[in-house]
Amino acid sequence: MTDKAKSDKPWSGRFTESTDAFVEAFTASVGFDWRLYPYDIEGSRAHARMLAKTGVISQAECEAILGGLEQISQLAAKGELDWSVALEDVHMNIEARLTNLIGEAGKKLHTGRSRNDQVATDLRLYLRDQIDAARAELKRLQQGLLMLAAREAGTIMPGFTHLQVAMPVTFGHHMLAWFENLQRDRERLRDCRRRVNVMPLGAAALAGTSFPIDRHDTARQLGFDGPAENSLDAVSDRDFVIEFCSCAALIHVHLSRFSEELILWASTQFGFIDLPDRFCTGSSIMPQKKNPDVPELVRGKTGRVIGHLVGLLTLMKGQPLAYNKDNQEDKEPLFDTVDTLLGCLRAFADMIPAMQVRAENMLDAATSGYSTATDLADYLVRKGMAFRDAHEVVGSAVRLAIDSRRDLAELELGELQALSRLIEADVFEVLTAQGSVAARKHFGATAPEQVRAALARARARLEAD
Ligand code: ARG
Repeated sequence: MTDKAKSDKPWSGRFTESTDAFVEAFTASVGFDWRLYPYDIEGSRAHARMLAKTGVISQAECEAILGGLEQISQLAAKGELDWSVALEDVHMNIEARLTNLIGEAGKKLHTGRSRNDQVATDLRLYLRDQIDAARAELKRLQQGLLMLAAREAGTIMPGFTHLQVAMPVTFGHHMLAWFENLQRDRERLRDCRRRVNVMPLGAAALAGTSFPIDRHDTARQLGFDGPAENSLDAVSDRDFVIEFCSCAALIHVHLSRFSEELILWASTQFGFIDLPDRFCTGSSIMPQKKNPDVPELVRGKTGRVIGHLVGLLTLMKGQPLAYNKDNQEDKEPLFDTVDTLLGCLRAFADMIPAMQVRAENMLDAATSGYSTATDLADYLVRKGMAFRDAHEVVGSAVRLAIDSRRDLAELELGELQALSRLIEADVFEVLTAQGSVAARKHFGATAPEQVRAALARARARLEAD
């Protein structure tokens, strides 16, 4: 063996030269995976206890390990643990520190495990917590939407298709539409959590270990639903990261669409809502400006979350079983996805209930776009005309209204009767926005009474999970 400075590497035994300085930094992950330390310590505690129970290490060694891990945990929490790039990653940093603190017993902790099953376990423990946090923030946002929906159950706004005024709807109904999107998102995260909550530990490097370990015991200690069935799969699978990132991408697409609406609605041209000043910023040059920065940023951040998902799918596509170092590249996109998602959800959950609605402007917009034309057609159908013919008649009425710069409800009865003799004085009831929304009173529609019923169901569904 050559004389070499290689002794700080736990794996240096078979090497004859020390790692190139650049390669050391290039291959290290501690710069970002240090964030896993609470989960790495939790996993090590469970592993040590199991090793003691099965007689692989002694009770005294186990206690020394637990004591050392406790000290490391406290140091790390205070930011007093020096993370060393020479020690590559969070796992080897903690292990080296442990041995440094407690001596021989520290060297036994790694019996019957590998960093491959260790990192997969850490990541699952971490992600389980983050899923719970994201679901809680989603719930808070949904509660805000329900509060708005209750307050504005009967507030009329224009409903749009193709971003053209289509039919009047209620603002409450519109908020409940977003509630449904987020409800599915929260369900998807719950479902994803089931597949995250499976324990890789014990798969060791790839094939398991020759020690008599009890994987069911460690799984129980760590709150996993059970150990992973197959050791090769356990160390190489990153589906759970991709699945979470795909849930996050979809949540972001929803938040981004909602943001787009808020940005439009807050504009002078729409004037539907006021976002609280504390969620907006001004312009350094134009004194009149109040910019909807929060929804704009949320819309913008959606790009990187989608990008991380695509990056992770691409990371996995060429990998043979089992573990490959490529997998170290899963962490930064995952961490950034989690941070971005939690930040955006928090901003939305704070902002949405504080938003003010400008009911008059919304009503004006709902009544000025011929939004009750379909109601007039339905009226003619109820009087016996076929829908296609009614569509034609109402088209002429809209033409007449446009040419004379009036709304449908402002046309004279005589003018309408000239288009169809079926039209009588009661027509004006269906031509108002209020009449239009009140008429849509079946399950799932926009009438205020249906919005209130849907709201009651939504509250119960939210509470149930
Ligand atoms: N830092 C590594 C990762 O994030 C830990 C596992 C390393 N395993 C190995 N055989 N080099 O994937």
